[in-house]
Amino acid sequence: MTDFRIGELRVDGADTEARNHSSEEENEDWIKPLIHQSQGAKEFAYCPYSKFRVGAALLAHDGTVFTGCNVENASYNLGLCAERTAIAKAVSGGYRSFKAIAIASDLEDQFISPCGGCRQFMREFGDHWSVYLSKPDGSYKAMTIEDLLPVSFGPEDLKKKRLFTTENGS
Ligand code: THU
Repeated sequence: MTDFRIGELRVDGADTEARNHSSEEENEDWIKPLIHQSQGAKEFAYCPYSKFRVGAALLAHDGTVFTGCNVENASYNLGLCAERTAIAKAVSGGYRSFKAIAIASDLEDQFISPCGGCRQFMREFGDHWSVYLSKPDGSYKAMTIEDLLPVSFGPEDLKKKRLFTTENGS
């Protein structure tokens, strides 16, 4: 069968699951390229209303990268954030296991911080993966989903024992 790769980019050396490296041994040379890809994604931002460009680069465990930018709309509340765009691209391409996401904006002196909705959207796919909040000069702050959204609610919670459940969906 043809190797049909859905993600548009790859980051060399990032397929650590396949290589079975421990986190201590892991070479982190892929972080800067991932941030660079998020900066490239930012160039495509469609933000005529906020004029605030955001880019994201989402790294799957096999090294595939999905990029995203914010996509605004004349009906303001329909706008999409860069992180959610990247996650929707990945999931619709068959990917659900993520290693990291890098986020870029034009904020000069501040690491771009993901909005609350995006934190929850990322958390859907686990709370132990990495988020790199970057500045335009490429410097970054590394956090985990759990750092960004402590005491979170996730898919596992829906499976836990409940005192009451509706039988017929009412
Ligand atoms: N935005 C993102 O794309 N990601 C974030 O984490 C913060 C905010 C976008 C949404 C909107 O298009 C613009 O930035 C201003 O809020």
